[in-house]
Amino acid sequence: MDKLLITGGRPLAGEVRVSGAKNAALPIMCAALLTGKPLVLDNVPRLMDVRTMAKLLALMGVEVGNQENGRLQLQAARVANPEAGYELVKTMRASVLVLGPLLARCGRARVSLPGGCAIGARPVDQHVKGLQAMGAEFSVVQGYMNASAKRLRGARIAMDMVTVTGTENLMMAATLAEGDTVLENSAREPEVVDLANCLKAMGARVEGAGTDVIRIEGVPSLSGATYRVMPDRIETGTYLAAVAAAGGKVRLTHAAPDILGATLEKLHETGARISTGTDSIEIEMGARPKSVSLSTAPYPGFATDMQAQFMALDCVARGTASMTETIFENRFMHAQELQRLGADISIQGNTAVVTGVERLQGAKVMATDLRASASLVVAGLVAQGETLIDRIYHLDRGYEALEHKLSGLGAKIARVR
Ligand code: EPZ
Repeated sequence: MDKLLITGGRPLAGEVRVSGAKNAALPIMCAALLTGKPLVLDNVPRLMDVRTMAKLLALMGVEVGNQENGRLQLQAARVANPEAGYELVKTMRASVLVLGPLLARCGRARVSLPGGCAIGARPVDQHVKGLQAMGAEFSVVQGYMNASAKRLRGARIAMDMVTVTGTENLMMAATLAEGDTVLENSAREPEVVDLANCLKAMGARVEGAGTDVIRIEGVPSLSGATYRVMPDRIETGTYLAAVAAAGGKVRLTHAAPDILGATLEKLHETGARISTGTDSIEIEMGARPKSVSLSTAPYPGFATDMQAQFMALDCVARGTASMTETIFENRFMHAQELQRLGADISIQGNTAVVTGVERLQGAKVMATDLRASASLVVAGLVAQGETLIDRIYHLDRGYEALEHKLSGLGAKIARVR
């Protein structure tokens, strides 16, 4: 199994290009199921999860083109087999995003329940509840959701909690439903807005994406479209946190500074100097960072997907920080691994108290999930000596060419067996 070997203690310098967003590309790929016409996507990142989604769609009968220079063409002229099997769903929870589009387009779907994951139980009850409100019937047999509906009909759906993929699934389903749908307590994440913009380019009638109330007027059919996936704000934030921790001066291009509000605010608090352009961000850090306390929240609050990277930053910062995780019940797995590098972290319930230390020491560590592995990379870039990160398949799910990009910024990093 591949590992990453990092020799830390070097500042980062130069320019890095931000990739397209994983968490926008995945739901947008599922939107291809809503029409028989071609959906041509640009700025699609080269990631394990994108390949998994492409495989899942191909098994349903979707024509999936070769991904070249960020372009990927999908066409669901016919959906012969509206099913998402356990073997693929267990490797990627986002597979549940086919449920709404399949029900809307085919009137039936058989989708494996995703089950829990390292960061939490992650049920999909809100997805099911919303689709039932639109008239779908569900049964669960041997770990599979069997769903059917002659034609979905519009409904007013108030979600019990803010759920990103729940909002996305219901929004996609509602585009072909009979009548109007109102989604209350919707997720306001930029990835939801990106999906809505793609659906509108396909002829859907969606209003209010980015607010907590989304209105969709169902239409009989959707057309094809060409759409450019937004930049990845979590990848962007990860590189910014790496510079704030390791020091240096870096310019990120093809970025979207205007959707990074809470992350940039926290980076300012560390003492980093940040300047932004329309699609670029420059960060400079010449001293030891200051500790920053935070509490994760749905957008526009501080992203849970940035918590681990900031914990690594706080491990070497001046001062003590308190970090509260409010979205997932088990998202501090990286803390034990950071302690192996000499970090001083104590956890009580959903709050971690991090006391910064002068120096981390390289060691062998293990990745447990996507963002936890990113935090070990940040810590490895700062730690004295060598850090060897095992199970980096987690990283490949969500970061395009990470070691290549970091080497370009002067880091000593290599993939080893
Ligand atoms: C999306 O997951 C992202 N994944 C996650 O990113 C991200 O951490 C999360 O949103 C929160 O921002 C994708 O977009 C593919 P939720 P999602 O439904 O939609 C509970 C990464 O690192 N809940 O918003 O699955 C749930 O358990 C990944 O890139 C229910 O109880 O998250 C959680 O506590 C990790 N019932 C909370 O809501 C439901 O039906 C928010 O989860 C749905 C959710």
